[in-house]
Amino acid sequence: MREVFYRAYWIKGCTPLNVGLRLNVMVVYLCFPKVLLFYNSRKMVNASFAIPVSEFAELKIDTNYDSSNLEQKTKLRHIERHKSCGVSKAILSDGCGGQPCHRNQTLEEDAAWDALKKSIVYFRGKPIGTVAAIDKSQGELNYDQVFMRDFVPSALAFLMKGEPLIVKNFLVETARLQSREKTVDLFKLGQGVMPASFKVHHSDPTKKTEILLADFGEIAIGRVAPVDSGLWWIFLLNAYTSYTVDKSLADTPDCQNAMCLILKLWLSEGFDTSPALLCADGCSMIDRRMGIYGYPIEIQALFFMALRCALRLLKGSGNDFVSQILKRIKALRYHLHSYYWLDFQRLNDIYRYKTEEYSETALNKFNVIPESIPDWIFDFMPSRGGYFIGNVSPARMDFRWFCLGNFIAILSSLATGEQAEAILDLVEGRWEELIGQMPLKICYPAMENQEWQIVTGCDPKNTRWSYHNGGSWPVLLWLLVAVSVKLGRPHIGRNALELMEQRLAKDDFPEYYDGRAGRYVGKQARKFQTWSVAGYLVAKMLLDDPTKIGIVSLPEDGDIREPVLKRSNSFP
Ligand code: GLC
Repeated sequence: MREVFYRAYWIKGCTPLNVGLRLNVMVVYLCFPKVLLFYNSRKMVNASFAIPVSEFAELKIDTNYDSSNLEQKTKLRHIERHKSCGVSKAILSDGCGGQPCHRNQTLEEDAAWDALKKSIVYFRGKPIGTVAAIDKSQGELNYDQVFMRDFVPSALAFLMKGEPLIVKNFLVETARLQSREKTVDLFKLGQGVMPASFKVHHSDPTKKTEILLADFGEIAIGRVAPVDSGLWWIFLLNAYTSYTVDKSLADTPDCQNAMCLILKLWLSEGFDTSPALLCADGCSMIDRRMGIYGYPIEIQALFFMALRCALRLLKGSGNDFVSQILKRIKALRYHLHSYYWLDFQRLNDIYRYKTEEYSETALNKFNVIPESIPDWIFDFMPSRGGYFIGNVSPARMDFRWFCLGNFIAILSSLATGEQAEAILDLVEGRWEELIGQMPLKICYPAMENQEWQIVTGCDPKNTRWSYHNGGSWPVLLWLLVAVSVKLGRPHIGRNALELMEQRLAKDDFPEYYDGRAGRYVGKQARKFQTWSVAGYLVAKMLLDDPTKIGIVSLPEDGDIREPVLKRSNSFP
């Protein structure tokens, strides 16, 4: 640790801004040792990424395996749909009368399925995931890897199509990767960390041997451990279990163990005074510096979702986590409802806040100075509608709208029924800003000029209205469609989908679009970005068959579990 400090925090020739930032980070390191692993460790020693080969068993590739045969090899199962998915009755009168639509596949869908199939990655003859993008025209970087978060829409598309095998393989292999020892410089990361991505490596092409190489943040740009990966893993295990109506995978010791390791790490105690999870900038889908360090809604909503999914899946010794999870869910819900929810009325209250309040009865608990409220929010906030703001921490409210956090809040039922409706009201009311010509804005608004310089560190990829800084991401469509289906307002999702269909396939499924209205294919966007393809297909299938919403959505009151009877209860 001493070495890391000396190398990373020795201040020499720094600007005052740099010094301030470095000192801030140092204070966080000193005060929150338990969250150390979530923070950027500046890598000063040039250690190359090399996992000792001895850690892997090397197997011969099954040469009899015909990769084009996935559909034949995967047993199509007739699945009885869950009735508890909370699909509103209103959709019964919509589109196909509440029944799955049987219609011919469009050209766009054909192109999308084709692209999705091409993206499948095989490991020792088995399909185990999908690459991030297949764009031969661009330098590879790490887009040839299977990303945990990127695979989620692919997995949902495969499940909805009746092909659960690839999802099962992915869950099993990533649980294995989790058990590896991971270090950054001289520091060992928590055991529960799940990889951001992995790839199949042919260690010896002549012998046809394959191993998996994973990245836990130790080689990623910025060196951030992905806080979202473990949460997505639990979400996916629940989606798989809901769809197959088969708990046997979740019940295996490997899956139970993986879940417990994630929970142990994510629920570990620290110096926090709030139930929200403390994170480094760039530890989620937005994986570059964007001023979302601290307690970003993107992670808090996903955390809430994963905790609720875990409650459904834990068994045996995993039940030890149940009471801890129940308490955390309750506190997290209270915290996010009290301090993150913003509507016209609350904005007006904050605008009139008094400052420097001390004591438990303080109204302005985080000492937010009203002058720090940005101008744009007063115009953006409709009189009908509301949303969870981006982040709350001492003297800081990040009022930006973040798409993923708000939609996961609806799907996980973190948002009350009323709040969920209000979020969709906001999307409808601010259609031009949030949907524009290509759905959907990852966050709103974009940072410009000096704010962009300071907050992003002059990131040329995140210039205003591009990429993570107010860019438009087709992958997010599946979330909009899912929430609109859940709330019985599918026309909202359908309108967005129709907009997207005019261009997405013609533009070769770009990763993101640029511009205030999302009219331009992103400056550095990869083409044939797999989650743009999969997100579109999931959206399409959800609109065709709204009963599929149960795979990704949790009903409002699902946390009640029978008390776990321990031996001591029955034998005092
Ligand atoms: C970019 C995105 C990240 C994604 C990765 C692979 O880095 O910001 O969310 O997982 O590309 O597509």
